[in-house]
Amino acid sequence: MQIIPGQLKTAELHTWLQSAIAPRPICFASTMDKDGQPNLSPFSFFNLFGSNPPTLIFSPARRVRDNTIKHTLENIYATKEVVINVVNYAMVQQASLASCEYPRGISEFEKSGFTPLPSEKIKPFRVKESPVQLECIVKEIIETGQEGGAGNLVICEPVLIHINEDILDNKGAIDPHKIDLVARMGADYYCRASGDAVFEVAKPNTALGIGVDALPLTIRHSHILTGNNLGQLANVQQQPVIDPAFDDVHLKNIFQYYSIAPEEMEKELHRYAQKLLEQGKVQEAWQVLLAGSL
Ligand SMILES: Cc1cc2nc3c(=O)[nH]c(=O)nc-3n(C[C@H](O)[C@H](O)[C@H](O)COP(=O)(O)O)c2cc1C
Repeated sequence: MQIIPGQLKTAELHTWLQSAIAPRPICFASTMDKDGQPNLSPFSFFNLFGSNPPTLIFSPARRVRDNTIKHTLENIYATKEVVINVVNYAMVQQASLASCEYPRGISEFEKSGFTPLPSEKIKPFRVKESPVQLECIVKEIIETGQEGGAGNLVICEPVLIHINEDILDNKGAIDPHKIDLVARMGADYYCRASGDAVFEVAKPNTALGIGVDALPLTIRHSHILTGNNLGQLANVQQQPVIDPAFDDVHLKNIFQYYSIAPEEMEKELHRYAQKLLEQGKVQEAWQVLLAGSL
């Protein structure tokens, strides 16, 4: 199916987009109005856009329902300050509660039960329960339109970042399982970025991977190897060659067992290579595949 944006009601398009552009990190924005009244609301139209200068953007959009604007945006226009607090699993239900449209003057800190902590560089409070709190000044606000659903890009520069040391690993870096972040998806879905949901992909760095187009056709057109497997194999920097020192019992067994059925042997070699790739053993997988091409 296809969607032409102008041909759908904004509310419908909004739903499609929110489900497709996901998961989105959550900015838990703490602001203050001119009179010092605090406000706290979650925004998942949010991301990091640069680190020199550090740049975060989130978007309190115009309500699709009635084209009204959010207290957070009004406060930001008035004060140009915001604390962006990240949201982890332990906070997600209370953070969602803070999205209720409480009237002006009612503090979502109290309604959602979070603890306000004074900031050092700006007036709005930090959220004590959040593992990373970024005190930000607002550099610019870009309105993408004037109708319901239009975004307001709040371009923020963090001037002080607070990190709870409980989320660090033994090298002093943020451990994804300890920070346990959550993200917003479509409808009422969220996801939790820890445990089995977190995995590593080796970065291609500055050296160039050989590319899928450089893989031998038997590998490229394999019925066993997946796109992810091809991506791993093609991320080596040089076309691998047979290593005579590669000595593998399982490989020998495959050769022995399938010697009279070459097609079956190729499948079995691809299955074995796949297993090795799942364990991150790319060079070993290449050796198994090259042995099969002899
Ligand atoms: C997890 C989550 C993410 C949200 N993301 C956004 C968003 O990116 N933009 C937006 O305009 N509203 C978003 N909302 C809705 C706002 O939080 C909601 O409109 C809130 O009442 C705004 O509060 P305010 O008027 O006090 O600023 C989100 C709600 C939740 C629960």
